[in-house]
Amino acid sequence: MRSNVRAGIIGVGVGIPEKVITNHDLEQRIDTTDEWIVTRTGIRERRVAPPHIATSDLAAQAAHQALQNAGKSAEEIDLIVVATATPDMPWPSTACLVQAKIGATKAAAFDLNAVCSGFVYALWIAAQAVETGAYRCVLVIGADILSRQVNWEDRATCVLFGDGAGAVILAPVEEPYGVLAGVLGADGTGAPLLNVPAGGTREPLSPEVIARKRHTIQMRGREVFKFAVTIMGEVAVQALEKAGIPPEEVSLFIPHQANIRIIQAAAERLNLPMERVFVNVDRYGNTSAASIPIALYEAWAQGRLKKGDVAVVVGFGAGLTWGACVLRWMY
Ligand code: ACO
Repeated sequence: MRSNVRAGIIGVGVGIPEKVITNHDLEQRIDTTDEWIVTRTGIRERRVAPPHIATSDLAAQAAHQALQNAGKSAEEIDLIVVATATPDMPWPSTACLVQAKIGATKAAAFDLNAVCSGFVYALWIAAQAVETGAYRCVLVIGADILSRQVNWEDRATCVLFGDGAGAVILAPVEEPYGVLAGVLGADGTGAPLLNVPAGGTREPLSPEVIARKRHTIQMRGREVFKFAVTIMGEVAVQALEKAGIPPEEVSLFIPHQANIRIIQAAAERLNLPMERVFVNVDRYGNTSAASIPIALYEAWAQGRLKKGDVAVVVGFGAGLTWGACVLRWMY
């Protein structure tokens, strides 16, 4: 039976690198054009972290802002979940590094990897942890530095990605607010469509592997596109049905920001006009696990998410993975 305790987002924050790489900058490096990138993806520029900045640095920056936003101190956090596919190092987890950076001395900490769906996965799992009463103040972060995994000579992928982090604080809240429902899914047979083959135990790094760029993102773009368009609409509908909320009551649809054409197609399937869809892919590109929390922060900061609004966050990514959560915004 469902308990009366609900988990709600009580603070949001971001960690976004300052350096901007525009499509015109990319025109100088590879055989591409601003026109091609904008027409096919909607991306105009992306942020890239400088060499001395690692994922935990952006994550900690986002965490500080989310804590301030929530009016909480780091000592109050009892669990940290970092969704990332680009950890600082193979181990320990980036969540542990963030715990030390922000001084969250009472928090348990672990990473979760569902690539671009990571934040939605982490949000839904953390919401369960709060609903059971096991945890009362959870820091959920989506953070990635995909610029380090991109082959900057491959025009089909390097134009798509950017770096960033976003964080939320989850705590018990009164009904009718909070995370109302969530749906997660995976299809591991789709792993070959989108992956970084080398750098793990299957193909450890070696000069030969690096020369063949096997440590960089490999993608079958058209197939990923088709999967994304179908799954975004489907999983959003499933989560709304679970929450008992009709699509017309959705104030803001916040999809993973990978490609404007994927976002438009998903909105069409849900019969949502683009005024009710949040888009910032033009400014950040695909920031993987960070894209949804960055969008949540911006939507809130711009006054597009207000108390009582119903928002649906929807992610898809490598794995293949997907997920959606329905939220009633509470501040
Ligand atoms: N500039 C110019 N031309 C290019 C570029 C570029 N940057 N990239 C590819 N092209 C060329 C191709 O070589 C191809 O030329 P050809 O016809 O002579 O072979 C042509 O453009 C068309 O290429 P397509 O791949 O068919 O282009 P498409 O319209 O499918 O767009 C894109 C490609 C943008 C990658 C699209 O397929 C897409 O967005 N797919 C989904 C990707 C995605 O969302 N990935 C992230 C998932 S989330 C995660 O977990 C990381």
